[in-house]
Amino acid sequence: MKTLIINIKELLQVRDASVLKVSGAEMAVLPTIKNAFLLIENDLIAGFGSMADLPKINADKIIDADGKMVLPAWCDSHTHIVYAGNREQEFVDRINGLSYEEIANRGGGILNSAKKLNATSEEEIYNQSKLRLEEIMLLGTGAVEIKSGYGLSVEGELKMLRVIQRLSQNYPITIKATFLGAHAFPSAYKTNRKGYIDLIIDKMLPEIAAANLADYVDIFCETGYFTVAETEQIMAAGIRLGLQPKIHVNQFNSIGGIQAGIKYNALSVDHLEVMKPEDIEALKNTQTMPVALPSCSYFLGIPYTPAREMITAGLPMALASDFNPGSTPSGNMNFVVSTACIKMKMTPEEAINAATLNGAYAMGISETHGSITIGKKANLIITKPISSYYQLSYAFGSNLIESVLIEGKVFT
Ligand code: NIG
Ligand code: FE
Repeated sequence: MKTLIINIKELLQVRDASVLKVSGAEMAVLPTIKNAFLLIENDLIAGFGSMADLPKINADKIIDADGKMVLPAWCDSHTHIVYAGNREQEFVDRINGLSYEEIANRGGGILNSAKKLNATSEEEIYNQSKLRLEEIMLLGTGAVEIKSGYGLSVEGELKMLRVIQRLSQNYPITIKATFLGAHAFPSAYKTNRKGYIDLIIDKMLPEIAAANLADYVDIFCETGYFTVAETEQIMAAGIRLGLQPKIHVNQFNSIGGIQAGIKYNALSVDHLEVMKPEDIEALKNTQTMPVALPSCSYFLGIPYTPAREMITAGLPMALASDFNPGSTPSGNMNFVVSTACIKMKMTPEEAINAATLNGAYAMGISETHGSITIGKKANLIITKPISSYYQLSYAFGSNLIESVLIEGKVFT
């Protein structure tokens, strides 16, 4: 099956296969081709170029993109979209003055979601989660990482990971699964932290690895959650079973989580709302991708990741949604890109790089996703007619997407 897209006003994020991430000043450059064509063969990008060089092609389907732009679908490297119910009451409690931490300390927060998840059938969790997956695909996401972490029990964590596996089998979008058993201490282990860490290391991780249910291991390294030493212990155990770490750090406090992540060769360190100079320094010349989650900052009213300082220091940066019921009930990557520009002062070029190629890197798939490159997946956004790609950040809240192609087919 050959699909040919013609008359593309501007084809964005055109890269050589050797570019797997962009850092520092490179992030300000978004390579494009104006008045372009793009050829798709089955699920892959098979060719592209200027309309002036369009060869004779016998396509099965032709899409005329006159006035429209084409870019790689968003690569959302950090989500928690498998969950049960919602936490709208906590949202109202926060409006009335309670903080996210105060709610968590009262047994709300992650433990509230864990209670709901453990009381909900696997079938029902799947049915709720697939709606979120379909929603983000229609919003332009073509690859997504999904975490467990609302089970906090052997059965609950396995249940979540099986739901992620089933989503991955039933939908064309690329999905990476991350085991986040170390998301919070369940109430039963409040005074027996070691007991829960042992459960993670001796029971959850081996069962998950044996069933091949996860690609990565995550830990919420934060005051009141998992200490740096506990984080290191769980990362080491994950690595022994072939799971590379991707961890939650520096959301509320800078306690050394970044340094620990780097020490264990984490693929990404995520959140980074609170950064000390030594945290930025530590990330230099590493293979670890810093990931910012601006929708979380927006929803909780906490600081934004200091992207300008980090990019000026030469670091790469990825953007992800953090879609979850507590801190970010939105998986809209268009809003993420726009908010990164508006609140973090990233340029449109930097934000698009961060939400495509660098996002793909942060989930270990930048050899196959995240740019317009021959041989990569034909996971694409076709915009509505727009004056320039600045519109994607500028017209915040507008839906500028006309269609989304996943594996070469329009997703509806
Ligand atoms: O990434 N910070 C830790 N975990 C999630 C939120 C979890 C929740 O509130 O349910 C996050 O923001
Ligand atoms: Fe998260």
